[in-house]
Amino acid sequence: MHDIIRQLEEKRERARQGGGAQRVKAQHAKGKLSARERIELLLDPESFEEWDMFVEHRSTDFGMEGQTIPGDGVVTGYGAINGRLVFVFSQDFTVLGGSLSETHALKITKIMDQALKVGAPVIGLNDSGGARIQEGIGSLAGYAEVFQRNVMASGVIPQISVIMGPCAGGAVYSPAITDFIFMVEDTSYMFVTGPDVVKTVTHEEVTHEELGGAATHTQKSGVADRAFVNDVEALLYLRRFIDFLPASNREKPPLRPTQDSDRRSEMSLDTLVPDNPNKPYDIKEVIEKIVDEEDFFELQPNYAGNIVIGFARMEGSTVGIVANQPMVLAGCLDINSSLKAARFVRFCDAFNIPLVTFVDVPGFLPGTAQEYGGIIKHGAKLLYAFAEATVPKVTVITRKAYGGAYDVMSSKHLRGDVNFAWPSAEIAVMGPKGAVEIIFRKEMTDSAKIARREQEYREKFANPFIAGRRGFIDDVIMPHSTRPNICRSLRMLKNKQLETPWKKHGNIPL
Ligand code: COA
Repeated sequence: MHDIIRQLEEKRERARQGGGAQRVKAQHAKGKLSARERIELLLDPESFEEWDMFVEHRSTDFGMEGQTIPGDGVVTGYGAINGRLVFVFSQDFTVLGGSLSETHALKITKIMDQALKVGAPVIGLNDSGGARIQEGIGSLAGYAEVFQRNVMASGVIPQISVIMGPCAGGAVYSPAITDFIFMVEDTSYMFVTGPDVVKTVTHEEVTHEELGGAATHTQKSGVADRAFVNDVEALLYLRRFIDFLPASNREKPPLRPTQDSDRRSEMSLDTLVPDNPNKPYDIKEVIEKIVDEEDFFELQPNYAGNIVIGFARMEGSTVGIVANQPMVLAGCLDINSSLKAARFVRFCDAFNIPLVTFVDVPGFLPGTAQEYGGIIKHGAKLLYAFAEATVPKVTVITRKAYGGAYDVMSSKHLRGDVNFAWPSAEIAVMGPKGAVEIIFRKEMTDSAKIARREQEYREKFANPFIAGRRGFIDDVIMPHSTRPNICRSLRMLKNKQLETPWKKHGNIPL
């Protein structure tokens, strides 16, 4: 018996050491934490229950029989974040470069299966050289098993990936399917083919960082949702982030008690929208002044800035915010902003998170780049996402709501539950200038006449009352009372039920 206990302790100790002190030192020298240090920071103290510490790979090719380390390069299990259950896997780069073998994959799929059964999020801390080259097809099969579970879990439990080292080749497709991707600056990268292959095929010279670093994916590609300066910051933000999310699609989002009154008026909002309709203002200021304790967790802040998305709380309950940003491209919708917002709206809808939408949109961005890029199809995604969403939907039109973009932005016609407008709202087919140039084309040479026509159009259409008369908005509210109005609406909508016709799944224009 003593012998077994000694062996057990020895095995545990070996697993805990991963690739050994030297390799852990090298990991630290790169500014990265070890797989276990990351888990310790992420989870509540002493909450981690590790599984499969004794798992070893089964490969015997290329001298692999002499290279077994218990745990096989990934630490898996479950624990708590602020007392709430989460499942975690953390790849250990010190063990064969964190490469994924068949057994490494089985450890991951085991916790994914369990998370699905009990209804809790899966967090993947990725730091891996990719498929274990010595194993070949066994490791490719392993990836596909993970992908299949990613897809099955999509919309059932939240899945979050943190990229904390390399993530290349097929390995990228697991994070790609998960709901959110966070990256660490300078030490993480993601790409389908690396710089060497790129050079051979396209003759482009590009560094790892340029091709797939955190800046690239949070500013250029939109693949990642946030970048953090180091492992510690990423993990601490992740703890904050997960607090916004329900554990599964069977739950409502968690409630966090707040001191912020549901009746709080915010007088400064009354003067925030400039009199000149062409002057921008910062929609993030509006959001922060309305949500609980100014706590807004923005996603993709440096990508497609013409739309703002993220989580906040109203009366302690999570809401998803979608807002046009007049400071970027005048708040126009384009391909990137439509994609960015559409996926977010679908996440919120899948996980019972009400949507609060702020509208100031002059229309879709014109141009050949947009048309050739498929704005028709991509813009339709956002329309589709809002239209299919059955969660409570509260919309506030702060200023412009023009053309098709008015329809898209969670309008009454897309089953919007409560649609407010500020007195500054302009709801019409298009802006006065454009409208007059078309319908009074023959008078264009007479500038005084055109100016009068524009004024006439503005008075007639560029206000919230035409829409109000038709019931397309429920009320015109003073900006300062927006928070109380939204709180009251969300309270009223708490037990909203809305069915969609049975279908296997819809066919969103991909
Ligand atoms: N399979 C097996 N072992 C791997 C591996 C993989 N996919 N990726 C890395 N390793 C091993 C390395 O052989 C090395 O082992 P050693 O220290 O015993 O020699 C160890 O992990 C650390 O890798 P190293 O290359 O020294 O680290 P690095 O930080 O300099 O580079 C990578 C990291 C990921 C860029 C580099 O390891 C790499 O290119 N790996 C292969 C990527 C790949 O093509 N994967 C398969 C397709 S998905």
